[in-house]
Formats: sequence, structure tokens, C-alpha cells
Amino acid sequence: MKTEIVKILQPELGLSCGEDAALRRAGAVLMAGGLVAFPTETVYGLGGDGLNRESARKIYEAKGRPSDNPLIIHICRFEDIYEIAGAVPKEAEKLADAFWPGPLTMILPKSAQVPYETTGGLDTVAVRFPSHPVARKLIEYGGRYIAAPSANRSGKPSPTEAGHVAEDMDGRVDMIVDGGAVGIGLESTIVDLTVDLTKDRPQILRPGYVTERMLTEVLGAVDTDVTIIKPDSGQAPKAPGMKYRHYAPEGELVLVEGEPERVAAYVNEQAAADRARGCKTGVIAASETAAAYRADVVKCLGSRSDEESIARGLFAALREFDNEKVTKIYSESFPDRGLGQAIMNRLLKAAGHRVVRV
Ligand code: TXA
Ligand code: MG
Repeated sequence: MKTEIVKILQPELGLSCGEDAALRRAGAVLMAGGLVAFPTETVYGLGGDGLNRESARKIYEAKGRPSDNPLIIHICRFEDIYEIAGAVPKEAEKLADAFWPGPLTMILPKSAQVPYETTGGLDTVAVRFPSHPVARKLIEYGGRYIAAPSANRSGKPSPTEAGHVAEDMDGRVDMIVDGGAVGIGLESTIVDLTVDLTKDRPQILRPGYVTERMLTEVLGAVDTDVTIIKPDSGQAPKAPGMKYRHYAPEGELVLVEGEPERVAAYVNEQAAADRARGCKTGVIAASETAAAYRADVVKCLGSRSDEESIARGLFAALREFDNEKVTKIYSESFPDRGLGQAIMNRLLKAAGHRVVRV
């Protein structure tokens, strides 16, 4: 299949007539059962009609994703949650009030019209109302219920620019809507509301931009899936996708924890030995310490005082290491709280949980 790429230059300023017409065409492609990749505020999504089983099948095939890994249905009006979910607890309404449109996904019981192909065979469904103006328009034009996983090939880091989507999906999807680089750079926070809320707390299944603290302020208290806090717990994550090795660069990534000087000394020593063995070496660092490293490629993601910049640049850095054929990568670690919890969750997964403490 030939993939058409449509550019929307400054979505925050509104759409030109031509851009609006292009999005209407993309919406028609979705309604006819085709696939369209599009920007959201978190990462790029690979969209298909969420109520069409054949579209779900095509999404799994294009991604190379196991079909037991459910898809998120994206909506563009709050009230559509009642169409997708079979029951909407008041906690879901409170969360929607506080964080929608935005980077939060809720797990709820599914309604009868959502096919099991979309939910990976589950009786529950993931619902998200994104804030990105292009995503919202496309969902509207595409029939209002757009199933969309991240638009990477399974196992690759999620795409944060249209070029990343094209690397993975050219020839596999009908259209790519290029709305520029995304703002957040990590996937949405997922909260499970299908627990018995009379005795149990809503549970975070995937940390993201909406932090535990922000959720606690709205709901009183929340839990976090034990597999996020303790990856060696031996239990299966409740979000099926969290069990896969993910976000993974082709080179081997190791996370290094400790005092900054000791981390730099350790990494420089290891990298020298790696280079002597013929490896190309890379480092992921914050701006405060980036100059201390001697490696073939040092990626500075931003300041530790601005974790949003670290989140925004992380997946692109992992992809660039692949393109630059870096085979051994070391990353600094970040405090495991606030947005840092999401950053560390993605880094640990990309590293296959290889961590060295120095
Ligand atoms: O920010 C995002 O959420 C992006 C953008 C495109 O919206 N989407 C995204 O989708 O990250 P995906 O498919 O890459 O990740 C969805 C995660 C997977 O780990 C999946 O297992 C989990 O959500 N999930 C989906 N439906 C679920 C359900 N019913 N119960 C538990 N987990 C579910
Ligand atoms: Mg994904």
C-alpha cells in the first residue's frame, strides 16, 4: 500500500481550509476501515475505527502486535464515554472533569457495541479523550470512536514525530497526519476503574504525565499496580501491554544509579572498555552532567529541573541511537516520583531492567 503523508503545520493556530479538507479525507479513510496515524499530545497513534473488528485486525497486523494486547478507544466529546463504557462510576466522571481532554486513559467495563477484537478479548475497555487539536478533529471526522495504539512497530519506542511513524509504518497504513513533534513524549497515564470501588482504590496501570499525586488530589487515594513499583514481583501486569519488552533500542541499554561523579566515572570506564571491543557507545544524560561523559554519542535531554524536557526527548533519543548504530548505551537515572515515575518506568523497560548501582 502507498502511504500518503499530510502535513498540518501549526495545529495550535487552527486549521487552514486545505488542512481541514485533508483531515476530512483522513476521517473518511477511517470510516471505510482504513488506518491513519495521527499526532496526540502524548505520542503518535495508529488509528482505526474502534467499533470495526476488521480495523482492529489491521492495526494488530500493521504493528506486528499480539492480538491479546487491547487498544485504547479515543473519543472527542466527554459524553461518548457512555457509548463505549457499559458503566461509568462517579470516580470516572471526576477524573474526566479534572483531566479530559488530556493524557489520561481510563479502564471501564465495555459496552456491547465495542468488539472483543478491539479489547483483546477483555470485557473492559480503555477510553481516552485526547487534547491535541488534530486528534480531536480527526476523531470527529472519523466517526468518533478511534482505536489507536502508539504508532510504532511492536517493541520499538513510541513515535514522537511523524518521521518516526514513517520509519515504522511506511507502506503499512493508508495515511500519516504530520502535526509536528508532540508535547509530552510519553504515553498517557492509565487508571483502572474496574476494581470494586466500594472497597478497593482505583489503580494506576501505567504511569504518565498525570501523576499519582494529581490523581490523589481528585480521588482521595489511588493504588499503583505492584508490577510498576516492584518489577521483580513475579506477578503479571494488569495492562497486558506492560508485560512486553518495549520501548527498546537495538543497542543494549543499562541504567546507572548513584552520585553524579561516580556515575560518570563508571560510565566512562565501561565505555572505554566497550569501545576497545569495537562497540559504538552512547549516553543519555541531563544537561547538568552531560559534559562529564566520554562516549561516541552523548544525548542531553534537558535539565533535571525540567523533567518535562527529559520526557519529551527520551523516545527520540532511543530511536536516534538505533539510526546511529550505537550498540552499548548507558543512561542516568531520575528520581522515581512525579513525572520521574513515568520516565523511570519507560527507561527500565527499555533497559530490560538492567540497572547498575555505583
Ligand atoms: O498516550 C497514549 O495512551 C497513546 C496515544 C496514541 O493515545 N496510546 C497508547 O496505546 O499508548 P498503546 O496501545 O501503545 O498502549 C495501551 C496500553 C497497553 O499497555 C494495553 O495493554 C493497555 O493500554 N490497555 C488497553 N486496554 C486495556 C484494558 N481493557 N485493560 C487493561 N489494559 C489495557
Ligand atoms: Mg505502545
